[in-house]
Amino acid sequence: MKESFPAQLEAWYEKAEQISPVRLRTLTRKKLIDYLGLYGFTNGAEIGVDRGRFSKYMFEHIPNLHLYCVDLWWWKFRGESKYQSVLRRLKDCNTTILRKTSLEALDDVPDGSLDFVYIDADHTFDYVMTDIILWSKKVREGGIVAGHDYYRFRRAGVIPAVDIYTQQHGITQWFLTDEKEATWFWAKGSSFVDPLPDSQESVQESAQQDLEE
Ligand SMILES: C[S@@+](CC[C@H](N)C(=O)[O-])C[C@H]1O[C@@H](n2cnc3c(N)ncnc32)[C@H](O)[C@@H]1O
Repeated sequence: MKESFPAQLEAWYEKAEQISPVRLRTLTRKKLIDYLGLYGFTNGAEIGVDRGRFSKYMFEHIPNLHLYCVDLWWWKFRGESKYQSVLRRLKDCNTTILRKTSLEALDDVPDGSLDFVYIDADHTFDYVMTDIILWSKKVREGGIVAGHDYYRFRRAGVIPAVDIYTQQHGITQWFLTDEKEATWFWAKGSSFVDPLPDSQESVQESAQQDLEE
């Protein structure tokens, strides 16, 4: 086992000799959670909780976990009974339960404070893209940005949102679990290439030099 989870991911990436997304054979989303536990990722957020079954699994496999559980539990989709079952299921767990939309909940979580985020709320393109952009900011460098359902289904925008985000943010090493309803993930900061590495000032300076030459 490598000294950090990003180092472990780097090793898996090198071994695979593929380009992203690299599907990690035999890795499931539950095993991914086990790794988060092994590497001491203790402050997380699940965006889209439903009945809290996966949140419960996280608590059972990540020692000392604190989890923000974000879901609007909309009444139209039996939200109230789901919310009540989450309260029962997670009653002894260290949660911050936020019954809000994923956008409203952003104000409750400081930037760069999370070890991981798991995005699994509205699966249409605009929502997935917005959740990735805004919830990534809440994750510290070396933390994990992840989400569910990287596969093709009706009205699904997960694949295009994840593909475009990684491409535009220069995330060259990212992964899928080996499941039909795959989980996508990467370590924040790993192989991140700033599309504008120079400050605006130095860009202007070099433009000025070009003109003078
Ligand atoms: C697929 S379920 C989550 C399943 C859960 N992560 C699991 O693995 O068991 C999606 C959840 O996202 C919630 N949701 C949908 N749109 C949302 C939004 N904009 N903000 C917050 N929650 C949302 C729904 O209420 C629903 O409970």
